[in-house]
Amino acid sequence: MNAHTVIERSDAAPATTEKPDVHAMVQHETVLSPRFYTTDFKALDSIDVSLVRKEWDELMAEMVSDPNKKHFKREGSFAGIIAGLEPELRAEFIDFLVSSLTSEFSGCILYAEMARRTTNPDMKLLFKLLARDESRHAGFINEALKDEGIGIDLGFLTKAKKYHYFKPKFIFYSVYLSEKIGYARYIAIYRQLAAHPELRFHPIFQWFESWCNDEFRHGEAFALLLRADPKLLTGLNKLWVRFFLLAVYSTMYVRDHARPVFHKALGLNPTEYDFRVFTICTQISRQVFPVELDTDDPRFRRAMDRLLAASRRIDEGKRRGGIGGAFLRMSGMAGAGANFARMYLMRPRRNELPATVRMQPAW
Ligand SMILES: [Fe+2]
Ligand SMILES: [Fe+2]
Repeated sequence: MNAHTVIERSDAAPATTEKPDVHAMVQHETVLSPRFYTTDFKALDSIDVSLVRKEWDELMAEMVSDPNKKHFKREGSFAGIIAGLEPELRAEFIDFLVSSLTSEFSGCILYAEMARRTTNPDMKLLFKLLARDESRHAGFINEALKDEGIGIDLGFLTKAKKYHYFKPKFIFYSVYLSEKIGYARYIAIYRQLAAHPELRFHPIFQWFESWCNDEFRHGEAFALLLRADPKLLTGLNKLWVRFFLLAVYSTMYVRDHARPVFHKALGLNPTEYDFRVFTICTQISRQVFPVELDTDDPRFRRAMDRLLAASRRIDEGKRRGGIGGAFLRMSGMAGAGANFARMYLMRPRRNELPATVRMQPAW
């Protein structure tokens, strides 16, 4: 993929601009792009964390102490580093930053709104702290983009994105996973670059270690919220847990494979990197999910690769247009659906939930 393919995907951007139109990139919505969410804010008022009160209070105290207060400061500007990258790497890295910023900011907006709209003091405190961190994270990525003259107007982003409604329980499953997967993604990159500092092509990666501890803590809060209401983790809801696990994993797999040059520059193979992230995420999510996907099963891996191939047929079909393109798209959609179903129907592993929920970020 190169700068042009990124830009061609968005209708509003001319294909010849030297700098990518990041506003068109964030505005353009696909099944794979990070989304903005809204929920039933009133439902937060009745959430009761008494089942996990002790762990909850400890986590809140840790977050109030703000361990990363001074972390997101930098000595100098990063100007010129992105501009100096090879064009393909530059395009994929910008795509990575823009999509990371969108996810961080999407969390910031949702959490801030949750804090504002609830009267439940536990929820108010939690979501204020979460919004504080995500706003810092989004701002830090934006500084790196601004250094290159491609900063994103966050006011514009707030208004331009579509908001998707999710019931609170769906928000909790998906946000729990995205926080933990965010941790696993950042820590895997950080560890790789700690072992191979010569591959660190941008200074922002040096911030990833403490940064991902924020994401880990955020995930802990959602683990406690889920464990505070056991019916969210039993009965038919186990099917939803499996659905969200698979949806998050497959989206990540397809999206990461669209950035081959970026991963190569980091010395990572996207397939190995993604399965490493899935393994970390599975180990962590034993704190809360009664089922886990067996991502090491060769049948799972084969189906994931077929889903990736199908999603490439959809892209190619869109690019080609006409009857041939429509046929490719349909075949791609059928393949993606069939392989998603195949993975979904594979027998998950059962997991006994531990008495203590909290974990340490030990990866
Ligand atoms: Fe974040
Ligand atoms: Fe987070």
